[in-house]
Amino acid sequence: MSETQRGGSQGAEGAPSGPSGPGASRYPFTPYPNGWFRAAYSDELAPGEIRPLHFFGREWLLYRTEAGLARVIDPHCVHLGAHLGHGGEVVGERIRCPFHHWEFGPDGACEKIPYAKRIPPRARLGGYEVVEKNGLIFFYHDRDGGSPNFELPDVPEVGDSAWTVPEVMHWKVRASWLDMNENCVDQAHFKFIHGALTIPPTTARAEGSLHIAESIFTIKAPGGTGEMNLVTLDYGPGFQVVRMNGLIDTVMLNTSTPIDEENTDVSFAYSVKSEGDTHKEHLAAAIIADLKDQFEHDRPIWENKLCLPRPALCEGDGPIAHYRKWYQQFI
Ligand code: FES
Ligand SMILES: [Fe+2]
Repeated sequence: MSETQRGGSQGAEGAPSGPSGPGASRYPFTPYPNGWFRAAYSDELAPGEIRPLHFFGREWLLYRTEAGLARVIDPHCVHLGAHLGHGGEVVGERIRCPFHHWEFGPDGACEKIPYAKRIPPRARLGGYEVVEKNGLIFFYHDRDGGSPNFELPDVPEVGDSAWTVPEVMHWKVRASWLDMNENCVDQAHFKFIHGALTIPPTTARAEGSLHIAESIFTIKAPGGTGEMNLVTLDYGPGFQVVRMNGLIDTVMLNTSTPIDEENTDVSFAYSVKSEGDTHKEHLAAAIIADLKDQFEHDRPIWENKLCLPRPALCEGDGPIAHYRKWYQQFI
């Protein structure tokens, strides 16, 4: 499936659902989406390590076996409910519950009870699909327990010696995951919040679970102005790859994982094609400082806004409505 829209989208049908005056609630929040979401960066989890996680308003447990396999499971033991993240241990390829030392294998099945010969068939921990690539550990969240219906890409720049090692930036924001993701296709705010010289013309199209937006920014350049192209690829609601070409080639791996309905855990991993050129590396450091600054420009808007289900969009808002139509497949 492929559809294309050139900037200038209209809002959804019907009257906009506006704020309702003083005391307007931030509810209802956008429903939790299905998709691949960052559990952690790969280098945050050594073999044998266990990390309790709190995402999607509930607890999960991330661990890595001694052989290096990352797993995301339900944290409470099916025996008598102990939390494996509080005193549990990785023992080879198994995780061991702290309470009675039952041991569970990589598929979740109990493989050893130190004081029983027969293992009950129900002795199995719930687990989730995990993919580790591009320096990130992703898990698949589906509200109904469904299986993944799309794959995440390999990002060739990660690990390429011509590119700098990605620099990770990390934030917790009191806003819906949708507000985070939508920011990249909200073309007008680049001028009014981030000081862009012009409102960048943007085109957008969807290809199944992939959303592609392309913008042209006018930037200051020696002797006048120049152009920078920005391509934003959304692989479902939790992973976004942003490539910029102009003075310098850059790639950014953005993730947003809902902590709960109102808070989102956001990260950017930023890399430039420096090819060992220290001038470009210095330029990258300046861009990273600017990105952090730009994030703080958005933050007070995000943390106090409503995520309107039917916003009053205008011609010139670009592909916001298109983006919202695309993400319906995940909620
Ligand atoms: S509660 Fe986990 S082994 Fe008993
Ligand atoms: Fe922004």
